[in-house]
Amino acid sequence: MCGVVILIIQVGVSILSLDYKDASVIDQALMRVSNANFVHFDIMDGRFVPEKSFDYKLVKQVKTNLKKIVHLMVKQPGNVVDKYIRAGADTILFHVEATRGVKKLVRHIKEKGVKAGIALNPETPLKKIENYLPDVDVVLVMTVKPGRGGQKMLKTPLRKVRSVRKKYPLKDIAVDGGINAGNAHEVIEAGANILVSGSYVFNSDNPKLAIDLLRNA
Ligand code: DX5
Ligand code: ZN
Repeated sequence: MCGVVILIIQVGVSILSLDYKDASVIDQALMRVSNANFVHFDIMDGRFVPEKSFDYKLVKQVKTNLKKIVHLMVKQPGNVVDKYIRAGADTILFHVEATRGVKKLVRHIKEKGVKAGIALNPETPLKKIENYLPDVDVVLVMTVKPGRGGQKMLKTPLRKVRSVRKKYPLKDIAVDGGINAGNAHEVIEAGANILVSGSYVFNSDNPKLAIDLLRNA
């Protein structure tokens, strides 16, 4: 048997940069990106990151056929995960920097039949999550400081992607922050198989084409 592993590239859309008043605006925006693999909800609590965004109620209200991935940029995510699970999350991503009892939380999320992922800030070393890697479904490597859409991608965190991919050929590795058609190739080459993009996709005249460009970069 030959040892070549081909991972399918998935593209998720972050709705953080959208100007919305209620869920129907998001529903409509998501109709323009129906070729995405999932919608990525960025939850900000005003504590782990300075800004505050929407919460589980909006995650629940949004009507879409896309899978709902929840990126919790919140302190002590263990206090709120169940709300997001009930709101229909397919995957919960929480920050290692914000969490005590990481192992227990991963187990809890998975026991509820939901995928569990650990996110890490650009400056957080990989050794902070190394022990948890065998258990998590996804690793989310941030390539911008969390808290705001539309920032320029930082390339240094891609080293972490490379080193996780070396050890875990089949693990889902997501990269989030500043992804566009100009840098997506480098992200995929580093070993990511999941790309999260907000401003680039939604600011494009043709969001579906933008998604295809990322997927095939
Ligand atoms: C940053 C968020 C990202 C980000 C993606 O705090 O977690 O999901 O907004 O949006 P762009 O592609 O605009 O960086
Ligand atoms: Zn995010």
